[in-house]
Amino acid sequence: MNKKQIKLDYTELESREELNREDSELLEKAEQAREKAYSPYSNFKVGAALILDNGKHFTGNNQENASFPVGLCAERVALFAAHAQYPESKIKTLVITASGSRQVLETPVSPCGSCRQVFTEFEHEQQEPMRIILASGRGKIFVFDNAENLLPLSFFSDQLKH
Ligand code: THU
Repeated sequence: MNKKQIKLDYTELESREELNREDSELLEKAEQAREKAYSPYSNFKVGAALILDNGKHFTGNNQENASFPVGLCAERVALFAAHAQYPESKIKTLVITASGSRQVLETPVSPCGSCRQVFTEFEHEQQEPMRIILASGRGKIFVFDNAENLLPLSFFSDQLKH
């Protein structure tokens, strides 16, 4: 028996003031997108913003539906829009932020498993790290240097070659 451990590797920032200029601008764009979320069922607003290696920005917010499973998370709205328009470009950084309807979140939003699966596939495809920054209304910010750190041992298409 060989016991293994996987370390969760990220940087914790005390506040948004510690972000560099590019990341800080992305956070502002994510916050603007968050306010336009279509989330009448959960009342939970999420915004995402990303920058490609060609300098273009894309944003997204959560889009819900009366048929609940039909909705899509903010980060996938942004990622799919970017990938649809610039399939050859690499995603440098993705920022995600969220807020509840009644109170400001104190802890950074945590992307769902389906979104993490999308992050790792795009990162694998582009063969360069995709930085992921998780924020909330105020307080700490988590910076991940690559998507794999958010989903170790993830499923890739290589495993379909049987
Ligand atoms: N949601 C996101 O858009 N991104 C996340 O990272 C977490 C959850 C959305 C999905 C749904 O519209 C609402 O938040 C509540 O789950």
